[in-house]
Amino acid sequence: MKLSINIDHVATLRNARGGMEPDPVAAAAICESAGAEGIVVHLREDRRHINDRDVRILRQTVASKLDLEMAISEDIMLVALEVKPEMVTLVPEKRQELTTEGGLDVVAHSALLRAAIDRLHDRNILVSLFVDPVPEQIEASEKIGADMIELHTGAYANARAEGEVRDLLDAVRQSAKHGKRLGLGVNAGHGLNYRNVRAITEIGEIDELSIGHAIMSRAIFAGLEQAVREMAAIVMR
Ligand code: PXP
Repeated sequence: MKLSINIDHVATLRNARGGMEPDPVAAAAICESAGAEGIVVHLREDRRHINDRDVRILRQTVASKLDLEMAISEDIMLVALEVKPEMVTLVPEKRQELTTEGGLDVVAHSALLRAAIDRLHDRNILVSLFVDPVPEQIEASEKIGADMIELHTGAYANARAEGEVRDLLDAVRQSAKHGKRLGLGVNAGHGLNYRNVRAITEIGEIDELSIGHAIMSRAIFAGLEQAVREMAAIVMR
């Protein structure tokens, strides 16, 4: 299983003081040299962490794969079409949320999403849709031409009761199989940490994980390179 690392929170820390440090561009280089196979950044409409400068420089410096997470807004779409990351992950976005709260409703917004996918494909950008582990959303993603889905693992990650954890893990497992049967690439992410990621790594149908907060939290105490190496040792088996 591959490991992509979301470096948004390096920019969160930088922006807390409005200066230049820590620089997410430097963080991406450390993540890659420690084994990351992709770098993920979410360019939000309010630019609360990653900004346009970061995305443009990362396009020049990321050697593995740049995954631009974004909501469908014309402003951000124009950045994506110009910068041409290897892939875009489309996510829903609400200004008040602390982090991405739920998957896309692909069933309800299929026309809008299909138009966005077509525009990105015209620039040879692969498109992943961030969806809850629900069969209808996965089927709708395939129908409108997505290359990949990213299964939202947030509910699984937040569950505490044993039965709930088991059921939510099973939903992720069944969804991964379903996505693969339909010919989609299958990624997963949100809320994964050094403990709860282990069960996810047992799901052979998942190609790649996108992990941010847990690695950056560990990096504060252990250093970024060590934090990445520890996660890579669990995920990339
Ligand atoms: N995948 C998506 C679509 C996300 O929005 C996020 C959070 O930015 C992540 C993965 C990473 O989540 P976390 O920071 O909890 O590892």
